[in-house]
Amino acid sequence: MSILTNKCIVLGVSGSIAAYKSPDIVRRLQDLGAEVRVILTQGGAKFITELSLQATSKNKVQNNLWDKEAELSMGHIELAKWADALLIAPASANTIANLAAGKACDLLSSVILASDCPTLIAPAMNQQMYTSNSVQDNLATLVQRGIQIIDPENGVQACGDIGEGRLAESDEIAKQVGLMFQSTKMSGKKVLITLGATIEAIDPVRYLSNHSSGKMGMALADACIEAGAQVTLILGDVSTSISKPSKQIFVTSAEQMYRSVMENINDQTIFIACAAVSDYSVKNPKNHKIKKSDKTLTIELVPTKDILKDVCQLPQKPICIGFAAETQNLLENANNKLKNKGCDAIILNDVSCTDLGFKSDENEVVFIDQKSSIKLAKNSKQKLGRKIIEIISEKFL
Ligand code: PMT
Repeated sequence: MSILTNKCIVLGVSGSIAAYKSPDIVRRLQDLGAEVRVILTQGGAKFITELSLQATSKNKVQNNLWDKEAELSMGHIELAKWADALLIAPASANTIANLAAGKACDLLSSVILASDCPTLIAPAMNQQMYTSNSVQDNLATLVQRGIQIIDPENGVQACGDIGEGRLAESDEIAKQVGLMFQSTKMSGKKVLITLGATIEAIDPVRYLSNHSSGKMGMALADACIEAGAQVTLILGDVSTSISKPSKQIFVTSAEQMYRSVMENINDQTIFIACAAVSDYSVKNPKNHKIKKSDKTLTIELVPTKDILKDVCQLPQKPICIGFAAETQNLLENANNKLKNKGCDAIILNDVSCTDLGFKSDENEVVFIDQKSSIKLAKNSKQKLGRKIIEIISEKFL
């Protein structure tokens, strides 16, 4: 039995030159055991014929929302209900924009709206279009709604340009669809993640904090959710959108984050401490705004409790993964944190540059445990998040 045996896949083919590869995608899905029905958009039909897709899928190709015969039985609803997964490959910039805007302007976008099954899209377009803010914003919106993106490849394009935007290989696309149905080591596992910055009040209007946006933690949460885990988020101050299928607890100070983690840690399999927690809080925060004066002002700070360290010392401790945000002696400091906090692994990131670490969309990390260290080169936080969760699964589950 193959991974897609008895699985019904609706393949949407939209207007990109890469549509000529869609019969091969049908074949690769069938190789994994799937039954495939194809929706061909008007744009897609400019690049591939209905007949080729009908011959390979062995099913009538649907292309018209206003097909009187099909719509007698509410064709778009019927297709949406039939599908165990929806795949759009290639997904053109226009189709991606329609999905992000929630449009129901053709059969494909209507089926997507009418369906609650897992959806994957494989973008394919010119590299300049792919990297444009509009397309990237639309893709980010779709990711937030739980749609999985099969990243395009980098290389020579049909138009002669070189860059990212070439449709992923058919084998890879079929494999990604298969993986959605495969239970991973993370399936059903409970994961608690802290993220964002804590805020320590000085007085009612001023505070101590840091630059954490929560993006790295949220990317890890997305990767856990994708892999089937049940995620609880303990969020400090964040400036990123929040993964929906998760339990969310909002806190402000390091002390509140500490209490919240301890209240929720009991039945967790994995604890990931990605939050940038203040190491100090103000000893006596004032109840009223401190008045300006010409004299030097001294604020007394006291150390906060170390959440990660204390979780690592629990008798029934979960798998504990910490982060080390460093600006100098990177490896030495990270290794000291691994040892002193007693965690299973520590993820080192350099927070001295502006294009990595805090706030940025990209990061570069070293995954360090007792036995080895793995360098993960500069990449989007989303991709690094997936890779980190893969490593945690392989090493500790
Ligand atoms: O949020 P982004 O803008 O995407 O940026 C991501 C990030 C840079 C914040 C993230 O990748 C990161 O490095 N997070 C950890 C930041 C930090 O506080 O590092 P640290 O080296 O000071 O702390 C070491 C570890 O102990 C961390 O796992 C931290 O969560 C934990 N800690 C620290 C202090 C404390 N009182 N309790 C803790 O649990």
